[in-house]
Amino acid sequence: MKERLDKFLSSQTALSRKEAQRAIKEKRVLLNGTVIRAADTKVDTESDTVSLDGQPLTYQQYVYYMMDKPAGVVSATKDREERTVLDLLPPELYRDGLFPAGRLDKDTTGLLLITDDGDYAHRMLSPKKHVQKRYIATLDREPDESIASAFEAGIVLGDGTVCKSGQAVPLGGCRVAVEISEGKYHQVKRMFAALGYHVEALRRVRIGGLALDEALHPGEVRALTAEEAQKVFD
Ligand code: URA
Repeated sequence: MKERLDKFLSSQTALSRKEAQRAIKEKRVLLNGTVIRAADTKVDTESDTVSLDGQPLTYQQYVYYMMDKPAGVVSATKDREERTVLDLLPPELYRDGLFPAGRLDKDTTGLLLITDDGDYAHRMLSPKKHVQKRYIATLDREPDESIASAFEAGIVLGDGTVCKSGQAVPLGGCRVAVEISEGKYHQVKRMFAALGYHVEALRRVRIGGLALDEALHPGEVRALTAEEAQKVFD
């Protein structure tokens, strides 16, 4: 793929397009070892080498990040009042076009994927793919044995919506591991509400075959390899 040098820089680094143009003017950018002064010079993303301030840039068409989403931030790119998950990204990981692939409620914590690959997000969220999501729910009281069979049978939400079969495994105390393949609005909370429970805390720990990296602290992000990103489809 061929791309303008300034666009290449702003897509691959935290520089804005303007900052990229300035860096080019300031001779901080080399293309195949040569200083380039024209921002509209075409870069072959497959074969050319670009460096910024002496650091070679490895071209990545898309990036995939895993975040341990903390409570109190919204899963959006922009919000007038609230802090968003993108506000938590360290500047060196930021680039244009990033968005959260799927949403967690403001008070839900755990595994959230952030990417600039629209097709990937679309596939992951498509009901046809049946990607399983695993949550740990903390309820307002200890669950009855019967929750497992209720989840298995398919819970009917308060508004009459019928959920696909899921799994609920009591973990002791008020905690339950839940697995569902759908992503309806407030789904886990509404499923428990239909059984007479209130969800006090909810944490997503797995999407498909990709588990939350427990070494991450709340609000921390790390890049996934392309192989790790594909695990959501396993
Ligand atoms: N189900 C919910 O109720 N909330 C979430 O954030 C995710 C799943």
